[in-house]
Amino acid sequence: MSSDSGPLQVEQRASLREYNSFGLPAVAHTLVHLRSAADVHRVVDHPVYGRAPKLVLGGGSNIVLTRDVASVVLRVEILGRRLVREQADAWIVEAGAGESWHGLVAWTLEQGWPGLENLALIPGTVGAAPVQNIGAYGIELQDRFDSLDAVDLVTGRKVTLGAAECRFGYRDSVFKQAGFGGLAGKSVITQVRVRLPRPWQPVLGYLDLARKVAETGKPAPDARTIFDWVCAIRRAKLPDPALLGNAGSFFKNPVVTPEQCRDIIGRDPGVVSYRMPDGSIKLAAGWLIDACGWKGKSVGRAGVHDKQALVLVNRGGASGAEVVTLARAIQESVYGRFGIRLEPEPVIV
Ligand code: EPU
Repeated sequence: MSSDSGPLQVEQRASLREYNSFGLPAVAHTLVHLRSAADVHRVVDHPVYGRAPKLVLGGGSNIVLTRDVASVVLRVEILGRRLVREQADAWIVEAGAGESWHGLVAWTLEQGWPGLENLALIPGTVGAAPVQNIGAYGIELQDRFDSLDAVDLVTGRKVTLGAAECRFGYRDSVFKQAGFGGLAGKSVITQVRVRLPRPWQPVLGYLDLARKVAETGKPAPDARTIFDWVCAIRRAKLPDPALLGNAGSFFKNPVVTPEQCRDIIGRDPGVVSYRMPDGSIKLAAGWLIDACGWKGKSVGRAGVHDKQALVLVNRGGASGAEVVTLARAIQESVYGRFGIRLEPEPVIV
């Protein structure tokens, strides 16, 4: 599957601009390319890197680099995709953490194993998918998750975690949590296994997909059609990081109590909200930011996307500090108008 031999591939004073989807300038003092789980063990056993603080980098699509990085940067490049098992009720498929997420979605469909189509075109790697429990158009990774392998960066121990141990939440998992039992910065995910249920069932509840059903008059689209729809919807409103640097949604959609929501609706009847199974209400952060007049605006070389106010973009040559300044200004105006604190989704380094 992946290379287990050969020396560690290490660069000193390496530019990270190509390795973060925002295209922000930052230099890694030490950059290690991890091509196998064995490479992770080599790092743990290394006389210098073993003890040094570390930053794990996947596709760099959920990170804002505001400065050069003194920690040892571990870039996960572990490849390989395979069918692990075909069961009566599911296909279990494994991929190396360094594989492209979208590449995995497209490949599983081509192989005749549908189930990931709603998660098409999400930038980033397979290994990053469980870290923030990626989600889109009615599905989250946790709905298709089987298990993952990771290597502990202190002990070098290999662990296999199931869904409960990953503590998935909305754009959250044990790999983002720093408190008791949290694994933030403590381990490297090497392999992820997804579980694609059989028989396949379409997930068409999200408003944008329900609209496609109505527009096309196709009440029973196949997985390939849903894949194409999701790609078209995303391309229409989300910028391609290869053309305009960004990290997807910059803030999480805030969750409020029904009372808070009633208060906001009283003042702004147009607010977009979704009722959660536990009775709380999720508000569309993009709508809140848009309502504050931010869509299409810029602060320095950082800006707010003109088709989706939840996405901040690098208009060319922005620094991480400029992105953070813009994000703070947005947080202040949303707080000033709605009394809601927006929480950034990407990791800010
Ligand atoms: N809206 C506005 N103005 C805007 C943006 C949005 O009024 O500028 C309104 C839209 O009209 C829509 C609602 O807000 O009714 C929701 O917008 P959208 O469907 O684009 O979804 P979102 O809540 O902004 C979330 C995820 C996305 C995911 C989409 C689709 C988060 C933080 N973001 O965005 O995930 O693709 O739903 O499921 O949960 C990501 O995490 O990076 C990401 C792109």
